[in-house]
Amino acid sequence: MNQQLIDQAVQVANDRLGNMHVDCALLLGSGWSDAIGNMEILAELPYSELPLPGGAQVKGHVGRLLLTRGFGATFLAFQGRRHWYEGLGWEPVVFPLYLSAACGAKTITLTNAAGGVNPAYSPGDLMLIRDHVNWMGSNPLVGAYDPDKGPRFPDQSDVYNANLRSRVKAAMAEQSARLHEGVYMATSGPAYETPSEIKAFRAMGADAVGMSTVPEAMVANWMGLRCLAISCITNMASSVGDGPLSHDEVLAVTQTAIPTMQQLLESCCRTMVQSLDHTPHDRSSTP
Ligand code: HPA
Repeated sequence: MNQQLIDQAVQVANDRLGNMHVDCALLLGSGWSDAIGNMEILAELPYSELPLPGGAQVKGHVGRLLLTRGFGATFLAFQGRRHWYEGLGWEPVVFPLYLSAACGAKTITLTNAAGGVNPAYSPGDLMLIRDHVNWMGSNPLVGAYDPDKGPRFPDQSDVYNANLRSRVKAAMAEQSARLHEGVYMATSGPAYETPSEIKAFRAMGADAVGMSTVPEAMVANWMGLRCLAISCITNMASSVGDGPLSHDEVLAVTQTAIPTMQQLLESCCRTMVQSLDHTPHDRSSTP
């Protein structure tokens, strides 16, 4: 990652969003931007004004960086992500991790829309990612080794922090909210999968399939940011459900699921704030 670009982005974010001492980060994928609900928005900045290659160009991705306040802490929220299938390499995809870490975030919550591979799932359901299979055919950690950022050969036995997951599951159970926990299979996209691929993915242990999240989670784990990731199951994957898949369907389902998405995102954010090993950054000018 180009360190100069990160330094410039931190500078721009500082100038435009105010003092960027953040506690936690949030990456809001397809359809999740409206799920931040009750958080107070302190400031916002369009991606087009950050030193990045391009803006967020996929329908359903807002393309905006927010500084928000909620649950007693400060969050850097990315409304929209970049994808490997855009063909611009890994830098735009993993940039949010570098910027979050440079701004002091200790945790990141990743969100996405995914296809249901487990036949027990239904569109509109939510899944807490327990583990992943990287089927993207590439890996964001390939490249020059920077010992200041993380190890050359990172352990990946607890990418999605087990302790934090238990707390989120307990909070959701307390509210009698339906929540699956499962394995997310990441493909490169941009094509949806064939029926035979989905059959193979199920045999490999996948519960859901999508085109994102795994690279960001791998980089978070490598950098030592505590990570949680959640999926909205927007459709049943190819041949598990009926009919052809479309991105419009994906976005429509996230709109109807907003109340439960908000509930789950809130549980993750609260859990992340509780996990901070320091007093959340005081912004006493805000409630
Ligand atoms: N496959 C891949 N990515 C997706 C899907 C799917 O079925 N639904 C939402 N994102």
